[in-house]
Amino acid sequence: MNKKVITKVTDIEGKRVFITCDFNISLINGAIANDTRIRAVVPTIKYLLAKNCRLILASHLGRPKGHDLNLSLKPVAEKLAILLKKKVELVDYYWKEQALSKIKNISSDKIILLENIRYCPAEKTNDPLFSSHLAKMADIFVNEAFGASHRIHASIVGIAQIIPGYAGLLLKKEIEMLEKALLNPQRPFLVFIGGAKTPEKISVIEKLLDIADTVALGGAIANTFLAAWGFGMGQSLVDYEMVEMARTVFWHTTRKHTALFLPVDVVIQNNNLKNKPHVVYYDRVPSDVAIYDIGPKTNLLYKKLINSAKTVIWNGPMGLYENPLFKKGTDLLLKDIVKARAYKIIGGGNTLSFLANKKIVSSFNHVSTGGSAMLEYMKAGSLPGIEVLQNQE
Ligand code: 3PG
Repeated sequence: MNKKVITKVTDIEGKRVFITCDFNISLINGAIANDTRIRAVVPTIKYLLAKNCRLILASHLGRPKGHDLNLSLKPVAEKLAILLKKKVELVDYYWKEQALSKIKNISSDKIILLENIRYCPAEKTNDPLFSSHLAKMADIFVNEAFGASHRIHASIVGIAQIIPGYAGLLLKKEIEMLEKALLNPQRPFLVFIGGAKTPEKISVIEKLLDIADTVALGGAIANTFLAAWGFGMGQSLVDYEMVEMARTVFWHTTRKHTALFLPVDVVIQNNNLKNKPHVVYYDRVPSDVAIYDIGPKTNLLYKKLINSAKTVIWNGPMGLYENPLFKKGTDLLLKDIVKARAYKIIGGGNTLSFLANKKIVSSFNHVSTGGSAMLEYMKAGSLPGIEVLQNQE
């Protein structure tokens, strides 16, 4: 991959460069909740601006059905303009033929950000015509969207099959830091998986049984595993379609040296969130309540695992942390990992929002901008958006 990094291109001066980013950030009442994913691509943009390149940026935001203005990249354009001290022009209807001349003739005092790339349905189908339309906008393609590189979409894979493509500085760093943990991990190697998205995560857990020493679960995915073990989960979020798969994972665990830990106690509350929450053992969840967090005994158990680990990777919250009543499990886990003397990586779309300050961020060896992409990389050792660049070598 080293040869395919944008800084290795010698004749870059003055070129038009199409950079796909992952600006899929959370918006609260239209305001950016966390700008990590935007700041993370600034070094590559500045590098290219210093080489007098004309830049066209693209990204998706959410999963729009049609031209949903609630998912406009306008707040991102405004933030970029502040960070770069440069005009950022948001271009909508970029898929139309007429948009090409405007995009191609951009003046050097501004950069272009294409409106939400998923406004155009041809993005997700990796439509060759749309890919070639995007490719016509630039001489060179840069993938700076690690978080979306598991998607076979036009602005990630299709365009890279048409014009020369390179990794941006962020993509390069994401790969290097993950490889350091995965290829030759310091042991014991401990992985925490939380949050929902059970179908995506369950196959990662299966793979982790081959490479990690311990895998510990929290969040909704843990409910599915507890249900697979035969315990009633009441009204909790359980992916019943994945229960059989979770059973298979249990079965595989019996044949591996890797230990799989589930919560031993949980915080429950009735579904309308009106009663006071309380803690019960994992096998005592009444039928009319739901699990919203891991309990204190689980935190203690997980703390012991952390204290003896030499590599820790964490993806996904331990409970419904957006609600202050249910953030304790996630907060305590974070506190214990921050203190740990281990090689530490944290990632996940939601995760970035609970890393409250710079001190916490800097206690990690790497904070990945990828959620599902990070897990997919752990499972497969590469991603379609990376492979397509390597195939050009
Ligand atoms: C993410 O936040 O995980 C990435 O931006 C990918 O988003 P997606 O799951 O909508 O493709």
